Amino acid sequence: MKLLSAILDRYPAKTGTHLDLACGTGLMSRFFEERGFHSTAIDLSLPMLQVARRRTPRVVAADLRSLPFRATFTRITCLYDSLNHLQELDDLRAAFAAVAELMSSDSLFIFDVNDEAIYPKVWGMDEPFVAEGEDFHLEIATRFRPRTRLGCRSTRRISSAPGAERKSSALWQERRSPPSTWLTSIHIRKGAA
Ligand SMILES: C[S@@+](CC[C@H](N)C(=O)[O-])C[C@H]1O[C@@H](n2cnc3c(N)ncnc32)[C@H](O)[C@@H]1O
Repeated sequence: MKLLSAILDRYPAKTGTHLDLACGTGLMSRFFEERGFHSTAIDLSLPMLQVARRRTPRVVAADLRSLPFRATFTRITCLYDSLNHLQELDDLRAAFAAVAELMSSDSLFIFDVNDEAIYPKVWGMDEPFVAEGEDFHLEIATRFRPRTRLGCRSTRRISSAPGAERKSSALWQERRSPPSTWLTSIHIRKGAA
């Protein structure tokens, strides 16, 4: 969040429209709304969107490889390794092309990717990560297969917070290599699709 704030301060937008891709639970939209942006959040997962909707009013079920908008957005984000969920180079190309269509000369696309080195180290945990709070219990277990370069993460959350879903679980799969090695081979010409 510190880095993101620094980027937003360094490159102030003329108009405050924000689109968050693969929004997960909607944290990023809330962050932008708090800074005066009009934010829209998209995700493929309906359970994620249900949680996101508690944080931000405009959520849309959509695939980041094919975005259902005509307007442009001044700030577009895709954060917390969401691009690693795209496992083929063509998927990544489609996502960047879709984003380019929604950008004007005042737009910035802010994204991150997991570097290759993180998977064997961080995704090969022997024991699950466990966090306990007053009203929640969270477990995250990971597995990394060097042969297929696929990382798997499963999360289980139990909550007693008012209004929150009591139990939720999710399984993610990410490929280790795409972004860091593939990004250099993506060239997007707006309107070329
Ligand atoms: C690591 S989580 C998102 C974290 C979120 N960006 C944040 O800032 O808190 C990855 C998300 O990507 C979503 N996702 C994966 N593939 C997608 C796709 N093709 N289009 C849209 N969302 C996708 C998943 O449903 C999941 O919610």
